[in-house]
Amino acid sequence: MLSKVITLNNGRKIPTVGLGTYKSPPGQVHQAIIDAIDGGYRHFDCAWFYGNEAEIGAALKEEITNGKVKREELFITSKLWNNFHKKDKVVPMLRETLSYLKLEYIDLYLIHWPFAFKETSPLWPIGEGAEAYSDIDYLETWEGMEECINQGLAKSIGVSNFNSEQIERLLKNCKIKPVVNQVEVNPNLNQKKLIQFCKDRGIIITGYCPLGRVEEAGIRGFPPPTMLDPKVAEIAKKHNKTSAQVVLNYLISLGITVIPKSVTKSRIVQNIDVFDFKLDAEDVAYLDSCNRNSRVCGLEMFKDHKYYPFNLEY
Ligand SMILES: NC(=O)c1ccc[n+]([C@@H]2O[C@H](COP(=O)([O-])OP(=O)(O)OC[C@H]3O[C@@H](n4cnc5c(N)ncnc54)[C@H](OP(=O)(O)O)[C@@H]3O)[C@@H](O)[C@H]2O)c1
Repeated sequence: MLSKVITLNNGRKIPTVGLGTYKSPPGQVHQAIIDAIDGGYRHFDCAWFYGNEAEIGAALKEEITNGKVKREELFITSKLWNNFHKKDKVVPMLRETLSYLKLEYIDLYLIHWPFAFKETSPLWPIGEGAEAYSDIDYLETWEGMEECINQGLAKSIGVSNFNSEQIERLLKNCKIKPVVNQVEVNPNLNQKKLIQFCKDRGIIITGYCPLGRVEEAGIRGFPPPTMLDPKVAEIAKKHNKTSAQVVLNYLISLGITVIPKSVTKSRIVQNIDVFDFKLDAEDVAYLDSCNRNSRVCGLEMFKDHKYYPFNLEY
């Protein structure tokens, strides 16, 4: 049976399923957090860049104040955005996030991407070219992340969108080891090599875009999400589950945590109800065969940045 929590290399525990919040709109994300807590979620994936941490914080505060959940039962993640990679910006940016989330500490703070933008650049500098880039080394940023632990503002620290070489270099040069590397994982991009690489070094993968960001796929030309594959619908029918549940169960079986995003109550509830069935060997073989190394979140427009992570196999 699949485990509902995974132990990190510092002994802390991360719930296997968390709620994603990217593009969870104002006016809806508050209710999504309430529905998720009611539905049993204790892990929430946030980021300064998503621009909705204040509304999430209000919902968390409400649930803690009315006794639905205790702070120490929650596992809240946030991420440092690319314009703030200077060592002495890290603690102030986490303090800002904590004030939005109305929390005294974060459970996990991540470097959102290994590459930096200048502080004065737009947050999303499309079309600005290399002018917008900063070559601040993520090793410098990591020293700021370690300071977050030293000051008691973060219980754990980690990275996101780091490739194997960046992980290795960080491990050789850090005082505090990262606990998590959050990267895209879905059946189109099952990341088995990176998962094993990180596992061998005591780092857990959290998989983002686990459902292939399904509703945007047709519009934005993303790779066709596996959860829309008729064969996956057949597998789901056999187990009396939905295609999304089949995909999430498969991903968790790879030894990772997943953070599906939804603002729809029925889907929020559905996406955590994935632990009561086991896929057959032929189901797993089919889902394995869907791997085509295609990304939803490749950020190819920044591929000439010195620290762009996806120029090597994994
Ligand atoms: N570290 C990074 O760089 C990074 C990058 C991308 C994402 N993330 C994190 O990962 C989270 C998840 O990724 P994502 O939001 O990009 O994509 P996703 O979770 O793969 O897909 C979200 C989409 O699927 C729909 N959906 C959710 N559950 C469903 C279900 N059971 N049946 C049918 N449709 C369903 C949602 O619609 P509704 O909301 O309308 O229900 C939404 O449109 C993000 O929210 C964010 O927290 C991190």
